[in-house]
Formats: sequence, C-alpha cells, structure tokens
Amino acid sequence: MNQPKRYTITAALPYTNGPIHIGHLAGVYIPADIYTRYLKLKGEDVLFVCGSDEHGVPITIKAKKEGITPQDVVDKYHQIIKDSFEEFGVKFDNYSRTSAQIHHETASDFFKSMNAKSKFVEEVSEQLYDEKANQFLADRFVTGTCPKCGHEEAYGDQCEKCGASLSANDLINPVSAITGNTPITKQTKHWYLPLNEYDTWLKEWIVEGHQKDWKPNVYGQCKSWIDEGLRPRAVTRDLDWGIPVPVKGAEGKVLYVWFDAPIGYISASKEWAANHQKDWEHYWKDESTKLVHFIGKDNIVFHCIIFPAMLKAEGSYILPDNVPANEFLNLEGKKLSTSKNWAVWLPDYLKDFPGQQDVLRYTLTANAPETKDNDFTWKDFQTRNNSELVGIFGNFVNRVAVLTNKYYEGVVPPKNSLEAVDLNLLKEVKKVTSTIANSLEKYRFREAQSEMMNLARLGNKYLADEEPWKKVKTDQQRTETIMYVAIQVVSALAIIAEPFLPFTSKKLHVMLNQENLASQINWNDLANAEEIVPSGHQINQASLLFSKIEDDVIQKQLDKLAQAKKENELASQKVEPQKDFVDFEDFTKLDIRVGTILSAEKMPKAKKLLVLKVSTGIDERTVVSGIAEHYSPEEVIGKKVAVVVNLKPVKLRGTKSEGMVLMTENTKGELVFVSPNTPHIKDGTPIV
Ligand code: MF3
Ligand code: ZN
Repeated sequence: MNQPKRYTITAALPYTNGPIHIGHLAGVYIPADIYTRYLKLKGEDVLFVCGSDEHGVPITIKAKKEGITPQDVVDKYHQIIKDSFEEFGVKFDNYSRTSAQIHHETASDFFKSMNAKSKFVEEVSEQLYDEKANQFLADRFVTGTCPKCGHEEAYGDQCEKCGASLSANDLINPVSAITGNTPITKQTKHWYLPLNEYDTWLKEWIVEGHQKDWKPNVYGQCKSWIDEGLRPRAVTRDLDWGIPVPVKGAEGKVLYVWFDAPIGYISASKEWAANHQKDWEHYWKDESTKLVHFIGKDNIVFHCIIFPAMLKAEGSYILPDNVPANEFLNLEGKKLSTSKNWAVWLPDYLKDFPGQQDVLRYTLTANAPETKDNDFTWKDFQTRNNSELVGIFGNFVNRVAVLTNKYYEGVVPPKNSLEAVDLNLLKEVKKVTSTIANSLEKYRFREAQSEMMNLARLGNKYLADEEPWKKVKTDQQRTETIMYVAIQVVSALAIIAEPFLPFTSKKLHVMLNQENLASQINWNDLANAEEIVPSGHQINQASLLFSKIEDDVIQKQLDKLAQAKKENELASQKVEPQKDFVDFEDFTKLDIRVGTILSAEKMPKAKKLLVLKVSTGIDERTVVSGIAEHYSPEEVIGKKVAVVVNLKPVKLRGTKSEGMVLMTENTKGELVFVSPNTPHIKDGTPIV
C-alpha cells in the first residue's frame, strides 16, 4: 500500500480463562507493542487496540469446574491480564472486553447488517446433544478421535495434534466434555457464513495479492486452506454464554465466539474514539488506513480468511494489510501449556524479577518465534541479561555517564573537530536507525533489536579504541570530542530503545536530562539530525539500568519447572490396579493403631532410615522407617501416625524394628503420613 495516512493495529484478544504467559507476550503482544511504539515515535497516527475475549467454551467449562459463574471467571482474569499488560509496558490505546455493552451492540449490529444483506445461509441439521446435561455440544464441549490423524483427544473445533480445524460432527466416537456421556444427535437451526462463496475473491486477495508481503508461514496456511476448498461455517451456537443472536427464531442461541471476538477490535476502537473525540470510522473504513493484526499461528485462519470474509460481506470495512502471525514459543524444549502449568506466568515473573520487565521483553524478542517455533530457556535468559544488557548496553551507557560527570560535572563538552572515527560512528547511528526502521516495517523484530544492540557494541568499541580515560591526561580537546560523540550515541540509543526497552529508555532519558527533548525528537529526526544533545547541556548522574542475574536465581526458576513436571507426571500416572480380594478374616489379622512419634534420629550410615520411638498405647517401641530423605527427625517428633503393630519384628542394620508407620504420596509427589490428625485420639486406638 502507498504511504498510509493512519494505522489500526490490533493484538489478538486473549481468552480470559487464565493469566497470560511468556508465549503470549513473545508471539503477539511484544511485537505488536514494538511496532506501535515505533510508528508513534515516527509521529504516525496510530490506534492500538486489544481487549479480553470473554466468551467461548473454555470459560464456561472453567466456571463449571470452580462452581462460579462465567462472569466471575472473566472479571477476575480481565483485571489480571490488563494489569500484566500495563506492567510489561504493552501500551494499548484501549484495552476493552467483549462483555462490554458497546461490544454486544457492535457485534449484534454487525450480524444484523450481514443478515439484512442475506449474507448468511440458515440451515437445520443434526448436531451432537448431551441428554444428561441438556445441551448441544460443539467446540470444546466435545472430544473424540480426529478423523485426519487419529488423535483420540481432538476437540469439536480443532485437533491440537495435527492442527486440523474440525466441526463437532467430524469427530469419531464423540464424548461429552461435560458429563463424559456419548452424545445423541438432535436437530437444530444455525446461521452459516458460506465461505465457499468467497473462494474466488480470497484467491484473488491473498494468493494473488499477498504472496509477496505476507510472511511465508501465514501465506502458506492460507493457501492450503483455500486449496483444500472452503466449507460454510456456523456462526451461531446453542449456548447460554455469549451474545444473543439478534434475529427472530434464534432464541437460546448465541454468536459463535470467533464471530464476535474479532469484532471486538472494532468495539474497542469505538470505545476509544468516544473517549477521545475521534471518529472511529476513519480507522476502519478509510482506504488510506493500514490495518495490521498481530496474532499467534493458531489464529491465522480466523484473521486471514473468516474475519476478512465477514468484513467483505458486511461491505463497509477495510481489510487487513498484513497479519504477521508468529509461530509458537516453547519453554525449556517443551510446548507451553496452561493446563500442565508449563509456563512462565507474567504475575509470577514480576514477583521474582521486580522491575526487570525489559529483561524479559529483550529476551523474548531476541528469541521471537518469527519464522519457526523457538525455545525460551532460563539459561539463555541469564546469558542475554548478563552479557548483552549488562555487559554491552548497560556498560556503554554507564561509562559515558560516569565519565561525563567525572570530567565535566555532567555538562556535555564541546564538539571541537571531528576525526574520521567520530564521523564514522555518527554515520553508524543514522545507518542503524534506518536499518531498524526497515526491519520493523517488515515485521522482523529480532533483527531490529539486534541492530540496536550492535550500536551499543560499536559505542563500547569506540570507547575502548579511543580510551578517553588515558587521553584525558594528555589531550583535553580530543577527550572532549570523544565524550561529545559518545553522548550523542547514548542519546540516540535512548530513543531507539524506546520500542524495545521502554522502561530503560525512560531511565535513559532521565539520565540524559532529555525528557523534553525526547518528546520533540522523533525517529525521522534521528535519521537526519547532526546532533541530538548539544554541548553545554547538563546531564544527570548515572543510574543502574541492568544488574547481573546470578545462578541461584536461575536455579530457582528451573526448580519451579521441575516441580511442575513432577506434578504432571503424577497426575498422569496410572492408578495402581486393585489387588485381589482378601477375606475379612484376613484383614482383621492386621492390627493398625494410632501412635505418636516420641523421638527420632538418623540411622548412622543409612541415608534413608530414621529410627523412631513410637508410643503405640500398648508400649513404646522402636520402628525403623524409610523416610529420612523426606523428613528430618525434628519434623516428625510429636506426629500422630497410623502404625501397624503386629508385623513380625525385623532387624534393619542391626536395629530391631517392631512395626510400620503408614505413609502415602500427595499430588505434589511428596511422601506424607497417613495420619489421624483429629485431636484427642488416644494412642492405641485401633484403625479399622
Ligand atoms: N482468544 C483467542 C485466542 O486466544 C484470540 C481471539 S482474537 C480475535 O486464541 F480476533 F478473535 F479477537
Ligand atoms: Zn488430528
């Protein structure tokens, strides 16, 4: 497209059934934020919107599980997610939500407008129905075998194994996710978007129009969808959580979540416009507006095919110019998973690394899954922080600020006469600025960010080569020039860093005392300016930008993950099969009593054994127990336990053991006592 007059940037509306994690940040929100901040630095007219996606089956299921209403679920997570975005500097012009009234109205109107233009096909068909729950089953309410790959836990809308998009009727051996029942089928009417009718248009628009400018992964997915042949898609559901279908004869039905959610971008824009005396239509209906959707790869079909078909059908909207979808981020080699707690949740990160949002932003961008799935590892996080942010960026900035304060009391020295090395470095600033701009325009965020780091690297090299700390003793004039040049580079970095490291950029502006100046200088000036901070300008003391992350801090994070892994393994472990029946007579042969551990000590030279003295009510006796790796002697003294008292005594490492304390394992994989915790039970009381 020609030079756009304004931009509408959207970031996928997150589902409001849990907090967000690093995968969301890396795949969608950080790139969207970098892009938007960059455009704003250029002085462009940009609207950046997002909001909570509050409908859909996963939210209903979560509410059912927790015994609360779907509204409770979304209220809780809307706030948590919104806070996370703010805390990580993802700076939307508006973060709205799909339960907002303005959204209900906007989505309803959109449906009505399409309906009035006869853009839907209405059809009665047989759909899966759970008789016990009295409910139709679609999307995540039903699981079954994927007809494409045979995966046994495919959902009614998608198989997560092979990525196939499904409809509930496609599943082999469907099972209700609500009751576990096998559903029957029942007739019901739905409204369909006849995607097949958009086939030719989509080919023209995507295959012919966007082969070159869309990312290969995005283009490839679209192409294969189109090549496979498009089918009509139901845009209504028989559910009670969602936006009521606003036509007669649709009582008890709601809009399909993927119909209403993308319209959320429009509602969020309207809400913003109303609060800022703007005209939202400029951002959605004017051909000179560039619309860009930032999403993850699982959202491609919805943003490249279905939503555009809706916009086209409605007829008065512009279409996305680009949909720079990312692939997925893995964590320590494994797929991020909310249900398996295999994730780094943003609220947790913030607790463990307060004030270090930029470190995460930096690492996630450096490793962004732009062209293929990528891996986040804590080791890499540590290295990037210690050797790049601390070692290069922080080091350069710090040296310049400290020396300027030391030599000139913080006043930018005169330029004097520039030598070739100086001119080269200043030229490099301009070059880097335009290289970064170029990369960002092409949605290559990793490349852009690494150029920024390169500039800091060049700055460091310049100082190392020119050695102002030596020259200050012999050549005042030359030292002034070196410091003048170095300050220009730091100042440029402060501006260039803003999209990537907004918190750091802010600190730098304060350090350079150029906050006012920064609001005047925009990206374009940077590429042309001969000078950013003039001689005579007063800067402040150096402040700490980054600090080294030690091994034990990283180990703590790895331990957390190891714990999650263990819990998952336990949760997925098959329960041991039931043993053969025993006669009641046999059972009564066992004599299990309540006892109290009176004393405990480690068995010498045995890692696993504790020697316990147990009051059994009958007597006080010695029991050798294999719990020493899980409990210290101090922890168990005084505990009430269940103890088998008539096991034949055995000698363990020379100590006679006269019984067995009963133990089991909790869901965290920890060894715990089978314990009569109730107070006032006398030792010796039988356990029957
Ligand atoms: N909630 C969806 C997800 O997390 C994304 C919705 S994007 C929108 O995958 F376009 F529908 F808003
Ligand atoms: Zn499959």
